[in-house]
Amino acid sequence: MSEKPRICNYGDSTYRQDFWEGQGRDYEDAVERRVLKSMLPARGRRLLEIGAGFGRITNEYGMFEQVVLLDFSLEQLQYARATFGDEGYLYVAADAYRMPFLPGVFDQATMIRVIHHFENVPAVLGQIRSVMADNGKFILEYANKRNLKAILRHLFGFNQWNPYTLDPVEFVELNFNFHPDYIYDQVTQLGFDVLRAVPVSWFRLGLLKRALPTQLLAAMDGVLQRSNFTLSPSVFLDLQLLGQAPSQNLSRANDALAILRCPISGAALRRDGQALVSDGGIRWAVREGVYDFRQPLE
Ligand SMILES: C[S@@+](CC[C@H](N)C(=O)[O-])C[C@H]1O[C@@H](n2cnc3c(N)ncnc32)[C@H](O)[C@@H]1O
Repeated sequence: MSEKPRICNYGDSTYRQDFWEGQGRDYEDAVERRVLKSMLPARGRRLLEIGAGFGRITNEYGMFEQVVLLDFSLEQLQYARATFGDEGYLYVAADAYRMPFLPGVFDQATMIRVIHHFENVPAVLGQIRSVMADNGKFILEYANKRNLKAILRHLFGFNQWNPYTLDPVEFVELNFNFHPDYIYDQVTQLGFDVLRAVPVSWFRLGLLKRALPTQLLAAMDGVLQRSNFTLSPSVFLDLQLLGQAPSQNLSRANDALAILRCPISGAALRRDGQALVSDGGIRWAVREGVYDFRQPLE
């Protein structure tokens, strides 16, 4: 693996229009929301949504006092900002391999449909762990390589790869599927306790989705979600950092500077006109309300 991991850059892609809007994925959206709701707490202080994209599922996080959307794509975040506004929301364009936050400031994090773009899983999970408060919770969705379809294809010799081996499989450039045991090892090594593993999206078949109403399919999925068979294409993990004292950094106000840190030096930041500047003089842009930590200013 190269020293600096590659990034799957969505930039100003038409992900929203090409993948979600009117693209026959109401079922996937419904089942993901269902399991997400079952894992979220009744109330919370500050949630970090990693790889938030255009904010497809951000409206599920209304029980948190502050929601921080992080994504590498400035354009996706600008769309999200136009939807949710600034009251209670913070928009951060950054590489999740290099988090621009003070340690321990989030009591909840979520990462849905994102980790499949990461070639260095220990690195990104380590970053997430570092910004979470002790006892904080983390909902992680991953694409499951050991799913029923892959097993059947393997059985009949159609698969190029083995669904039972632990190594991640890159089936398209920067798109990985993971073995459940591999992800389990990664998260537990970092000190996360797996409270629940929920298999999701069992009926991802065009024919079925066209033939049956979304709500019926989602209800059937709900039944299988209660099984312990991690053979579905998508798995949600409800994780919690093993108990220590609650973080002192958690109780701060909603001011961005209370939680943002220079991702290069880790130093505190102050405002300087339209930019943020670190104690060491590294400058970062704020572009139409989005804090941009992808590249420092010259
Ligand atoms: C498939 S989209 C999922 C968006 C959203 N979570 C959803 O479920 O609709 C993946 C997102 O991950 C973001 N992403 C990929 N690599 C990233 C990285 N290294 N740092 C931050 N965001 C990243 C992309 O920009 C994209 O918006």
